[in-house]
Amino acid sequence: MPHQVVIFGASGDLTSRKLIPALYLLSRKNRLPKETKVIGVSRTDFSHEAWRNELLATTKKFAGSEFDEASWNTFAANVFYHAADAAESDGIQSLDRFLKELEAGQTSTRLYYLSTSPKLYEQIIAQLGAAGMAEESQGTRRIVIEKPFGTDLSSAKRLNLSTHKVFDEKQVYRIDHYLGKETVQNLLVLRFANTIFEPIWNRNYIDHVQITVAEEVDVGRRAGCYDGSGVLRDMFQNHLLQLLMITAMEAPSRFQADFVRDEKVKVLRAVRPLNGSDYARDTVRGQYDGYLQAEGVPQGSQTATFAALKLQVDNWRWSGVPFYLRSGKAMSCRTTQIVIQFRQPPHMLFADGARPATQCDANRLVVQIQPAEGIQLEFQTKVPDAGMRLRMTDLDFSFQREFTGVMPDSYQRLLLDALNGDASLFARSDEVELAWGIIDPILAAWQSDDAPPLDGYPKGDWGPDRSDKWMHEQGRQWFDVC
Ligand code: BG6
Repeated sequence: MPHQVVIFGASGDLTSRKLIPALYLLSRKNRLPKETKVIGVSRTDFSHEAWRNELLATTKKFAGSEFDEASWNTFAANVFYHAADAAESDGIQSLDRFLKELEAGQTSTRLYYLSTSPKLYEQIIAQLGAAGMAEESQGTRRIVIEKPFGTDLSSAKRLNLSTHKVFDEKQVYRIDHYLGKETVQNLLVLRFANTIFEPIWNRNYIDHVQITVAEEVDVGRRAGCYDGSGVLRDMFQNHLLQLLMITAMEAPSRFQADFVRDEKVKVLRAVRPLNGSDYARDTVRGQYDGYLQAEGVPQGSQTATFAALKLQVDNWRWSGVPFYLRSGKAMSCRTTQIVIQFRQPPHMLFADGARPATQCDANRLVVQIQPAEGIQLEFQTKVPDAGMRLRMTDLDFSFQREFTGVMPDSYQRLLLDALNGDASLFARSDEVELAWGIIDPILAAWQSDDAPPLDGYPKGDWGPDRSDKWMHEQGRQWFDVC
């Protein structure tokens, strides 16, 4: 059956930077289903040819060394543009007529991709419904919804409700591009395709877990739009909580959408809600110096560009093991890593004169999600010819050393899964709502008397000083390695 990928928001940044390069590279690798056509929809007038030319320039840039003219020409011949206002019934009906023309009497699988301003999501979905474009009598219909999925719990619920009026949950693919990262999927493999980690992946052996998503870039030209969300909405509600779920979930009995998502949802349900003074004790917020001068940021903005949270997962496996989540803009370097910090040995034999035995560094498993994709297992070793002096060393696995080829961008995997109807790496409606249920009260507390101070930090640092002090007070320290 032919496939149609219909991108709403065709003139947007995401389309040229991510979606088209991903679809092109899938086509180049012969992974797209046969007869896949890509249709861009936006209000701006463009001919098919003009849009293809624009995309040629951007795809060359973003596909880099993987680009070649011949495969582009094959792909571009199946790329079309339709100018329409998809939030209006005339616009959506003209689109439907155009899609039917392309289908030429055949039935086809359609994948609608919402990449417009989120304000238009509900209107476009309603129009798709009114035009009968979600009905599956003429072939499978699926919809991919880009983040942000709502701006808080009530808007996410409303969006779920409007979506479900038109699409069945099994037709809906809420994208979080972190789940498309190879290294995030590899965390599932590390945990559930090996036997040696799972027996120690619990409160008996693990002291705490650190999940860091540090970005070196500041908010740049997005400042005005970023100010309305801040780091909790932009990074925690989605990416960091996804990493938490993958780290903490139980093994699903099958690698299938609902089996995986059931287990992930259980983790969010087990996250202990914060109350009253917990917000000042268990959260840290910061704003990098110079943020207030960025164009579009309102005077005196209290938007956090850095946050650290201590969350507890109240279940049998994780009781008493804190999960420290941290993310920020304008930090020392770009790194996403999950650190599993194991407990100290119960009794230390090898006291070294200069170093009390109790301070022996404990084992650590570092999962490097990006950019230096890999895994390090750190352990103590005897320094040769130095009495019984010990030093931490590691077993170091690197994707780059082990595998050849370019690490694919997450949109390739996710678009292909959506085309093939596999929702394992997409968020379900309850998952999104539970995630907002964790973030919303923190956002509210940060507007109230329970708020921790909003400390500044210099660009290129690991966040405000308080973040380090906070960890020290708990007898721990951040693993700050670029
Ligand atoms: C996006 C956020 O979802 O993720 C951006 O809106 C952030 O602010 C980006 O920069 C980070 O993604 P990645 O894949 O570069 O880590």
